[in-house]
Amino acid sequence: MAESRFVEVSREEPIAVLTLNRPEVLNALDFELMTELADRLEELDADPAVGCAVLTGRGRAFAAGADIGEMAGLGVVDLLDRQPFAVWRRIDRVRMPLVAAVNGYALGGGLELAMACDIILAAASARLGQPEIRLGIIPGAGGTQRLPRRIGRYRASEWILTGARYTAQEALEAGLVNRVLPDDQLLDAARELARTIASRPRQAVRAAKEALRASERLPLGEGLRLEQHLFQALFATADKEEGMRAFLEKREPRFTGR
Ligand code: CAA
Repeated sequence: MAESRFVEVSREEPIAVLTLNRPEVLNALDFELMTELADRLEELDADPAVGCAVLTGRGRAFAAGADIGEMAGLGVVDLLDRQPFAVWRRIDRVRMPLVAAVNGYALGGGLELAMACDIILAAASARLGQPEIRLGIIPGAGGTQRLPRRIGRYRASEWILTGARYTAQEALEAGLVNRVLPDDQLLDAARELARTIASRPRQAVRAAKEALRASERLPLGEGLRLEQHLFQALFATADKEEGMRAFLEKREPRFTGR
């Protein structure tokens, strides 16, 4: 795996832990960091030994958003040339599940990155929000679309229009995070959850992620049709045979990912 400046990768097969590592600027997401993150995630996604990844941040933040220093100097033509959101689409296409372990600030692009993951665990001291409005912009990496789908439009309107910060407990009550953990237990809980997911049959896990994610963009009829196609496709896998046989023989299954 290539070296990264801003993204630390710890392989703990069958999982991997990726740590955003730019703590001096609260892991602000500049173009280089985001590109490294997409590169590392794609490499891990292509590796049959890894079935789930945890994403977290070094220091006081998960990520405090897009790098304002970098953005301040950009005009619209720079954005058109650089296509800064192409890298977010690469992250969206990762097929293995991602668990966000939100250890501190998850603001702006930082919260959008957590929302690009499939499950969000938060440390009790974490603070979440979409403060872009205070900078004269709006969320640009999915906040206006994903936040209302996750916490409802009225609540999302308040978060995005005020730019306020919310506690992990408030995020839990809004349904934005799965669990709040004492700070020192966050990473172990995320690892354990990721290991459980990675122990499940790989093709079924990917199919489930694809169907779940489609539920946010497809009308119900199309979503149900996609679910049925994915369900049927899994009947061609060895793990479906093994999983059902093991159940009937009252033994633990031995999955191969095939
Ligand atoms: N970009 C660049 N640098 C950042 C940053 C960001 N998003 N967030 C923090 N930093 C830097 C600070 O400039 C500071 O650097 P210096 O030490 O060189 O001054 C360092 O990180 C520490 O930050 P603070 O001194 O501000 O720490 P604090 O504890 O007083 O405040 C904070 C913490 C409330 C998170 C505050 O840093 C903050 O409000 N950050 C900006 C949050 C924000 O507006 N995010 C949205 C960005 S826009 C976006 O994300 C667009 C999108 O949708 C993709």
